[in-house]
Amino acid sequence: MGRSGTNSGLAEDLLIELNRDGGVPLHRQIEASIRASIRAGRLRTGASLPPTRALAAGLGVSRGVVVEAYQQLVAEGYLASRSGGYTQVAASMPPVAADAGSTASTVRPAARRAGFRIDFGYGRTDVSQFPRAAWLRSIRTVLATTPNDRFAYLDGRGVPELREALCDYHNRVRGTSSVPDNVVICNGYAQAISLLIQVLALHGARRIALEDPSSDDDARVLAAAAGLDVVGIPVGPDGVQVDALHRADADAVVLTPSHQWPTGGVLSATARAEVIRWAKHRGAIVVEDDYDAEYRYDRSPVGAMQGLAPDHIVYCGTASKTLAPGLRLGWMVVPPQLVADVAAAKVLADRGSPVIEQLTFADFLTRGEFDRHLRRMRPVYRRRRNALLGALRTHLPDLEPAGIAAGQHVVAWLPPDLEEAAVVTAAARHGLGIKGVGPYRIAGTGPGGLIFGYAPLGETAIAEGVALLATAIREVRGS
Ligand SMILES: Cc1ncc(COP(=O)(O)O)c(C=O)c1O
Repeated sequence: MGRSGTNSGLAEDLLIELNRDGGVPLHRQIEASIRASIRAGRLRTGASLPPTRALAAGLGVSRGVVVEAYQQLVAEGYLASRSGGYTQVAASMPPVAADAGSTASTVRPAARRAGFRIDFGYGRTDVSQFPRAAWLRSIRTVLATTPNDRFAYLDGRGVPELREALCDYHNRVRGTSSVPDNVVICNGYAQAISLLIQVLALHGARRIALEDPSSDDDARVLAAAAGLDVVGIPVGPDGVQVDALHRADADAVVLTPSHQWPTGGVLSATARAEVIRWAKHRGAIVVEDDYDAEYRYDRSPVGAMQGLAPDHIVYCGTASKTLAPGLRLGWMVVPPQLVADVAAAKVLADRGSPVIEQLTFADFLTRGEFDRHLRRMRPVYRRRRNALLGALRTHLPDLEPAGIAAGQHVVAWLPPDLEEAAVVTAAARHGLGIKGVGPYRIAGTGPGGLIFGYAPLGETAIAEGVALLATAIREVRGS
């Protein structure tokens, strides 16, 4: 693999954090971070390291410090110097992750499902970028300082430290209007929607409206189990079509206003005001799924709707797109009249989310680590999105990318001559995993489109994936 291989980019991709007061020489700290990244599989065989001058500038140390660290790791066999003056992870390094068998792959382990060379499957953030060092510092703090009695059974809403930290964060960054008493911590958005459906049914709801298309297949099953009807509300380029909501006779609606999933539109200011008028008039509830609002690449994100009508909107957030889905950390800001019932449903479901993770996340947020992590990741995802759009322009100019510059996926509409299912099947034959929009439609009709989840893929893999898709499409057109 050449210099353009995975991980060849920024100093911050190496997750090096220097402690200048700890008495450990800086070159040893750099060595230890790179060694740990290689052992953990975050830096894979063949990955190029940044030039010493660039890394030194990024870390604010002299070039000699980085040269010393690289030389030590070359001597230990972790790194290899290449002609041209650059340094790579050595070919002899054993694969560490269970599925890291392909040593020269440009695809990260998290990016692959079985059988696919490249996988645009949606729903995976780049977990290789999880801020381990900062998270570890927070866990250490929590374990060292939390009194024993805090590890007992929990209040259904979650630990006060996290509820406070989330309120501060979202009131500042998303313009929500929340107080800690109205926050309920849960195991991701999946549990939020499950608890909310139960509580809405308890409060007499009969029908719930979902965006069409939407990712809420869980909600469809849960609503049916709770005896609620489900109605789909068509989505246009600017999000859900509010006139259809007026006709839906629903008691609640689930929306993704800041970045519609999957089509990528933003709900306009007029439509937001109209949805809120609808909710107030009907006494209905809006569930605002703010799943990836942290990632907007062209401008500041539009604020959350919840701040405009906190008595009618449940705000839902998740760490699945920003940190890792395996954390199972999510939260809701719930209108006052529903909080007690949502907290009771949470206790009934599982007696509360794990306390050490909650306290750790609270510490992580209050120390500014979450902001820092997002500042580091935004340019990474922006570059991947641009790589995807560039490759589509080059190889498949008749596909029509939709939506705003945000999030971790892009939908591209297919021209009328291409049948979505045929393209998905042909792509799979060529080793490319990709999903169509069709399976996420409630009414089952609409133009064909493909969902490109690009978040865990390096730019080279993204370009390769689009080239594979172009080959598959040529084959479909030829047959
Ligand atoms: C629209 C939408 N909301 C929320 C989530 C996050 O779900 P969870 O927090 O349960 O991981 C996803 C995950 O892919 C999603 O697609």
